[in-house]
Amino acid sequence: MEIDAIREVALRAAKEAGAILRQGLEQQRIIEFKGEKNLVTDIDRRSEKAIAEIVRRELPHHSVVCEEGTRLQGDSGYRWLIDPLDGTTNYAHGYPCFSVSIGVEKDGELIFGLVYDPSLEELFTAERGGGAFLNGKRLQVSAIASLSHALLATGFPNDVAGAKHNNLDYFVRFMKRAQGVRRPGSAALDLCYVAAGRFDGFWELKLHPWDMAAGSLMVTEAGGRVTDLHGGPHRLSNPQILANNGLLHDEMLRVLTMED
Ligand code: IPD
Ligand code: CA
Ligand code: CA
Repeated sequence: MEIDAIREVALRAAKEAGAILRQGLEQQRIIEFKGEKNLVTDIDRRSEKAIAEIVRRELPHHSVVCEEGTRLQGDSGYRWLIDPLDGTTNYAHGYPCFSVSIGVEKDGELIFGLVYDPSLEELFTAERGGGAFLNGKRLQVSAIASLSHALLATGFPNDVAGAKHNNLDYFVRFMKRAQGVRRPGSAALDLCYVAAGRFDGFWELKLHPWDMAAGSLMVTEAGGRVTDLHGGPHRLSNPQILANNGLLHDEMLRVLTMED
């Protein structure tokens, strides 16, 4: 079965990438700037090369899209969306909150997701219709039903200083209403934490398909809800995402769409 091969290859690739990330933390990292606040390290690229190489070798008929530019064209309808290091700013500073994110689509529908946190040795996996798991243990979103009791997470785009839609307005609104709001720095992990019930909700405005692919499947497979910021269906081509345990969805939407 193709899904068995996908699971096995993704796991092997993530473990190899995780070892590269862990080892990279022990050495001086070469940091390049894609923009003033948009970093990439030599380790992002090494991680990407290792993952893409494994997929190319083992599943040559699958397409691959990676954040740092690797593209492989297959003819099978399978497409891998890969963030070889989600949380590069944290990583560059040695702050141990980062992950490897691998999502797989079949004919445009997400069928598999894996997010690996090599610092905590936490492996999140999900398969469409098969549930979401953390190190093999089934995940369930939280049961928190009101924003005043909720712990939320979000993130900010690299152009936060200059852009009009920089999320600071939503951040202030939620800070005033929720029990707490965190900005950990790895969107893929934020989504997994919603799936695990560690966060009750998450939203962000300017993400890429490789940030959200694996994590969004994780949330829905753990019983949560994922939409755009207006409550419509979420597509990976849409950079805006709202994910939560489902119980908080209407209240979070009201906050997002209210007039200040
Ligand atoms: C970033 C992280 C961060 C989010 C940014 C992303 P990167 O990805 O997911 O949490 O707030 O929007 O760009 O650049 O570290 O792979
Ligand atoms: Ca990312
Ligand atoms: Ca990245």
